[in-house]
Amino acid sequence: MGLFIKKPLDMLLNEASATGEHTLKRTLSAGALVALGIGAIIGAGLFSLTGLAASHYAGPGIMISFIIAAVGCGLAGLCYAEFASMIPVAGSAYTYSYATMGEFIAWVIGWDLVLEYAVGSATVASSWSGYFGKLLSNYGLSFPEELMRTPFEGGILNLPAVFIVVIMSLILIRATSESAWVNALLVVLKVSIVLVFIIIGFNYIRPENHIPLIPENKGSFGEFGWSGIIRAAGVVFFAYIGFDAVSTAAQETKNPKKAMPIGIMGSLIICTVLYILFAYVMTGVTNYTNFAGDGLAPVATAIDWMGPMVNGVVPRPDYPWLNNLIIIAVLLGYSSVILVMLLGQSRVFYSMSTDGLLPKVFSAIHPKHRTPYKSNLLFMIFVSVFAAFVPGKIVGEMTSIGTLFAFILVSAGVLVMRSTMKDAPRAFRVPLVPFIPVLG
Ligand code: ALA
Repeated sequence: MGLFIKKPLDMLLNEASATGEHTLKRTLSAGALVALGIGAIIGAGLFSLTGLAASHYAGPGIMISFIIAAVGCGLAGLCYAEFASMIPVAGSAYTYSYATMGEFIAWVIGWDLVLEYAVGSATVASSWSGYFGKLLSNYGLSFPEELMRTPFEGGILNLPAVFIVVIMSLILIRATSESAWVNALLVVLKVSIVLVFIIIGFNYIRPENHIPLIPENKGSFGEFGWSGIIRAAGVVFFAYIGFDAVSTAAQETKNPKKAMPIGIMGSLIICTVLYILFAYVMTGVTNYTNFAGDGLAPVATAIDWMGPMVNGVVPRPDYPWLNNLIIIAVLLGYSSVILVMLLGQSRVFYSMSTDGLLPKVFSAIHPKHRTPYKSNLLFMIFVSVFAAFVPGKIVGEMTSIGTLFAFILVSAGVLVMRSTMKDAPRAFRVPLVPFIPVLG
């Protein structure tokens, strides 16, 4: 029976309104939450996976894949928003599951979120290391190869990946408001570069590259045609992961009932618009087939096609310098993904620990900075080990699976909550219940 004990809503709301030196500090506004969301969302998914998905599965139809993935995330996002406005406590899907489906499911989802955030940040850190090496080589510098690769890839350890995890963890320990500030700066820079790419690229769109919008299926499921679009949507889903991390910061938000829905849905909508425009430009400047085999750098390929065409090729691109700027933006962009994911991770553990489902060390608050610093430090080590020794590819899919599982439980939780706690106040309500949670 004990396994299915639920945490009463009143108790959660008392936690939410508690103040004092043993609690998290409320410093975040709705705008900071939107920035937090964008910080976690735009990263490896956009800068790396778009080219792969367009060249192998969807062609220019990748724009439709982005829309499909966005609709899926939006449905789950609405459910997150209802919960976050109703139970503004750190812990996200973990806390919501505890209130609706009991301790056991909550414990499982808590660990699942940790898989998503810790393993996700390790994935992005490995990719960060790859771009870091590229930037150094563009400037004629080098870093020992064996210190940039995991033992599975013929190296010793991925040192730059460890470096970025340590830096981001130390920023988090200092203070949530400072982390939010650093994140906002990173977000402004990365969104600016995405906009620069879109604006400059618009002039080089060759309409024939968008025709046909959906290339014909090549005979097997998922290779172009509509099945390819769906398959690509599954790949670019990774690009949206992170908006849910906004809800983990509920306990550090001023006026969370209003700010949470704005933070979650606002960041999702802004990123969706940017992604569609980005995909439109990317598949417009050159044929999608040219992104096959370009590894992780479809953006660089696209920039190489921005220039006057001579006999079907672009001998001299107009903006070669944009390549290095984009790499810098990618590095900054990835840093903010790591920052927000590590933030989310420590806040889920904070909640599990205050509930007694994990040792107290995970909710120990720093006397001065008021952050769960011991948890941050432990996870700095854990994520660093992952990033140093496990290839990004292996953990990337685990991140998506972990996220999907969380989405399912949050969507189901809204339905449970609507029947068990009909009258509890909700600042934001999912429309068209039960359709939206069921579709979510
Ligand atoms: N959405 C994040 C990214 O694309 C995880 O890197």
